[in-house]
This record gives sequence, structure tokens and C-alpha cells, in this order.
Amino acid sequence: MCGIVGYIGHKPALPILIEGLKKLEYRGYDSAGVAVIQSGTARVEKSQGRLANLEGKVNGDFSDGVIGIGHTRWATHGRPSDTNSHPHSDCTGKFVVIHNGIIENYVQLKEVLQQHGHVFKSQTDTEVIPHLVESYYKGDLVDAVRHVAKMLRGAYALAVMCQDEPDKIVAVKEASPLVIGLGEGENFLASDIPAILKHTRRVIALEEGQMAVLTRDSVTLTTVDGEPLTPKIIDVNWDPGQAERGGYAHFMLKEIHEQPQAIRDTLIGRISDDNTQVILPEMGLPAEKARTLRKLAIVACGTASHAGFVGRYLIEKLAGIPVEWDIASEYRYRDPMVDSDTLFVAISQSGETADTLAAMREAKRKGAKVLAITNVVGSSIAREADWVLYTWAGPEIAVASTKAYTTQLITVTLLALWLGQQNGRLAATDAKEIITSLRDLYTQAAYVLEHMEEPIKEVAAQIARKEDVFFIGRNLDYAVALEGQLKLKEISYIHAEAYAAGELKHGTLALITRGVPVIALNTQPELAEKTISNIQEVRARDAYVIGIAVEGDDHTKHHCDEVFYLPRCHKLLAPVLAVLPLQMLAYYAATARGADVDKPRNLAKSVTVE
Ligand code: G6P
Repeated sequence: MCGIVGYIGHKPALPILIEGLKKLEYRGYDSAGVAVIQSGTARVEKSQGRLANLEGKVNGDFSDGVIGIGHTRWATHGRPSDTNSHPHSDCTGKFVVIHNGIIENYVQLKEVLQQHGHVFKSQTDTEVIPHLVESYYKGDLVDAVRHVAKMLRGAYALAVMCQDEPDKIVAVKEASPLVIGLGEGENFLASDIPAILKHTRRVIALEEGQMAVLTRDSVTLTTVDGEPLTPKIIDVNWDPGQAERGGYAHFMLKEIHEQPQAIRDTLIGRISDDNTQVILPEMGLPAEKARTLRKLAIVACGTASHAGFVGRYLIEKLAGIPVEWDIASEYRYRDPMVDSDTLFVAISQSGETADTLAAMREAKRKGAKVLAITNVVGSSIAREADWVLYTWAGPEIAVASTKAYTTQLITVTLLALWLGQQNGRLAATDAKEIITSLRDLYTQAAYVLEHMEEPIKEVAAQIARKEDVFFIGRNLDYAVALEGQLKLKEISYIHAEAYAAGELKHGTLALITRGVPVIALNTQPELAEKTISNIQEVRARDAYVIGIAVEGDDHTKHHCDEVFYLPRCHKLLAPVLAVLPLQMLAYYAATARGADVDKPRNLAKSVTVE
């Protein structure tokens, strides 16, 4: 998984490429490279490590070229190194290629190419592409790329330039994301919209098997077979400022603070003025289908799977429909029992996660209909689903997901309410109570962020010195504990685990010794006493207990070393508020340890490999 960017126009390409790569670093950042055609020569520079290394290397040679491509890498085939970085070239250096994805049949292709005398420099799968283009080039780059694309198996978003045809970039997409940006006398391509948002809001999201030829003044879209296609142009309403850091030290902190707005945006137009109805016409799922559903299967990865875990509780409770919940990478391999009476719900911020996409395809193959909950319009998951509910979080850049998670929680809540209203299982009084509380949630989220940030910072300074942290809770609190522990470990590298509070005593309690931090979530009134008993179990072993409870609960504070009180909200909505201090805790613990918060080691935001 990597990020790619391309530019053709009238301005120097290099700064546009570098700027685009900065926006795409979340997709991988173990090396980066650029190629610019200048004075009839394809000039390539690449460097292992962060983009800053590449920036230090590119020099005046590149300054005038008005056509170029760039790449930021997350290694799959071949370790991170200068040589394995993209762009890759053929034997002559005429053709340059950037690629995001995996070429599954590269070994066979490479063998044949080597037999024909091609000399490979890298260990990557990608390098077969420029050599293949070299082999099939008969004076027409488009023809050659078309021919080569048909030989490739696997996933690829790729862009190809030829120094003898400096008036075009040829791009092809199969299973990896690729968008084209339309400008005036200039055109762009990128793995994701934020990379080009500063230059244009008019984009085309390429679909599987599509090919685009970009010149300064035109974008021609065809199938790989050459059939002409009419592009669907999307006007993106994201504000370019949203994709910048806006004065915050890290994207993650900015995105934490954007949550009240994101919650509000995700609710807009979806609840009736009198707080009695959830309205989701844009979803398109027929009410009749909701009434006859026998099962839901919620499948996702990482943070999105934790939102799905909350969704399971809510849908079963409010709509009375059984829900299975799975991690996408496991789903296909257990021969899941789904059929046309099952609604498969894929949750994905990016809409591109390979495991989620594969699980969704498996469910479809078995006859299930698919509802996607995603943040990215035109993403693969959105396109392949039967119905889509968007989370209006805006672009999320930090690898650690925050605002996407809270908007996913809002969206699964809306879905649960809607299903319950359609099938008649949800009492009108309950619906009204929850919807009324939903309406207040964004102001309450803003309150939590404003009032808890400083005290959380102090607790984070303690946590930063520890090596193990445990998160406990029951029911919805357990679901939030899962997200809290993931946030902490992925950015601070502190070992963290979440346990259903009642399960701790079945083994993990053995790890609780003096001073070990235990974050205890206790927001569900009917389970509060039981959770307090579990808090007592860890306190008896001298744990350092930090409680998260809701105003009005007078008990939890007597059993904790520190406690954070959330504003009163409907108990089913407590996860949305409870996760906020946990996100801040993770953020400040990570910064206290000097970790690179927005780019945690070994991770990437969008995981488009299985
Ligand atoms: C990666 C990211 C996580 C994210 C997960 C699923 O692992 O680092 O933050 O939750 O992918 O991504 P998705 O885009 O499908 O929500």
C-alpha cells in the first residue's frame, strides 16, 4: 500500500508532486520518489525514509519539468531502500512507473523478461511493469500500457510516463484507489482526494479496469480494452483547509478537536425536527427490506471494527435483529453463513481496506445485500455496496482514527434507530429519548474536549512512564475499551489490552500489580455495581485506577484514583463521549514519549493489501 500522485500542466511539477506526497504519507512512508520529464529526459530521484529525505535530494535539475509522477511507499515486496523505491524504470530509463498495490504474477513475468535480457535493479513486483512497457512499446505509450495492463494480475493503481511522449501520463486502476483531478490547462492524479484538493475539487474516481490518459488539456477515460467511457465528475465539497494541520501540532489532535463538528455534520438532515424520526432517504435501503431482515453481519477492520462492535449492541437492542460481528481478515475463512435475508454491513473510513472489501465480496457472492458505512465518496467499498451511508467526518489524515470512529458510532446509532422504527420493535418514547440526546451530543463532545484536555494531559504524563495499561468495561463500555487500548498502543507503543471487566479474573488479573494503570469505563447504569466490583478486584492488587463515568454517578469516584465525569447523555450514546478522553490520553501519552503521533511505526492509514 502506497500513495501515488501525478501532474501535467503548465507549472513546475516538482513542488506539486512533493506537496501531494505530503498529503499521502499516511498511506506509507518508508521511502519516496519522483520522476519529472525535463528537456526530453525522464529524471528520477528517490530516497529511503521520510519524504524530507527526498526533498533534500531533489535539486535544480527538476525545476522546470511540467509533467511528473511521485510515490510514497509502504513496503510489500522488497525491503525499504533507495533502489526499491518508486518510480521504477525499464532498461533504457525511457519509461517510468509508479504503482500502488501488488502484482501477484510478477515472478512469472519477471522470469520471462529476464530470459529476454531485461535487467532488474530492485526486488519489487512493480519493476516488471516498466520492463513490460519497454517490450511492447511500438511508438504509442497508450497502446503499450493497455497491452501490459491485461497481463497483470493483482491490485494496481499505476501511472506511466515515457520521455519520448512528454505530453501525457497514462493511468490504470484495478482494485487500488485512483482519482483524477480536473484543472484548467492542467490535470492531476492521486491515490486520494486530499493530495490534489488544493488545486481542484472536480474529480473522477476511476473504477475497476479503467484507464485514463491525462494531457494538459484533456482526460480521456476508457476501459483497458479501449472502449470509450463517459467520466462521472464528482464535485468534492471538502474544504482544502480541512486537509491541512490548521495550527495543531499533529493531524490527530486537530481531528480529535474536529469531532463535535463531524458529529453534527453526520447528523444533519437525518433526524426529524421533532426528534421522533430518523430519516435516511439517501441510503436507499427499502423499508420493506428492513422489515424482513433476519440477520445483520457487521464486518470491518481496526477502529472501524470497534465501531461495528458498538453497532452490534445497538442494533440488537433497538431493532431486535441478531447481529454477527467479525474482523474482516477472518471473515472469509470461516465459511460465513449469509444469504439474501442477511444485511452485510461493511464499515470503513477509507472505503478501500482490502480485507473489508474481500469480506464484502464474499458475502455478496453468497447472496447477501451490502450496506457500506464509509467516509469516502466514490471509494471502492461505496461503489460495490448496494447501499451507502456516509460518515461526514471530512478527510482523516492521522493514521490513528478519531473523528471517523465517532462519526461511525453516530451512523450505526442512526441505522439501529432506523431499523427499529421500520420493523416496529422500537417504542416511540425510546426513539424520542435517544434522538433528543443525539441532538445534544456535539455540544457535549465540545464540552468534554474543552474541559478534560488539561487534566487528561496530567494523567497521560503518568501513563507515559508505564509499560502496560489495561482497559476494562462491560457491554458498551467494553466496546469503547477496545478502541481506547488500540489508540494507546498504536501511537504511544505502550502495551495495552482491553478486557470485558468480568473476564479479567479468568487470567489477566495475574498481571495486575502495584501501580499498573487500569482505565475503568463505567457509563452503563444497570451494570455500574458489577463494574465497581471488578474495579475493587484490581484495586485490591494496588492498581492505579482511572475511571470514566457519567455525571450523576456518585459511586465510581470512591473506587478510583482519578475519575473523569462525562456530561449526562442517553446511556446508549455514552461511547461517543467516553472515547474522547481515551483519544486524548493516547495522544498526550504518545507525545510525552516523543512518538511520531501522525505516523506510527509500521502502520499505515489505508491498508489495501490483505
Ligand atoms: C488501518 C488504520 C486504522 C483503521 C483500519 C481500517 O489499520 O491504521 O486506523 O481503523 O485500517 O481502515 P478503514 O479505512 O477500513 O476504516
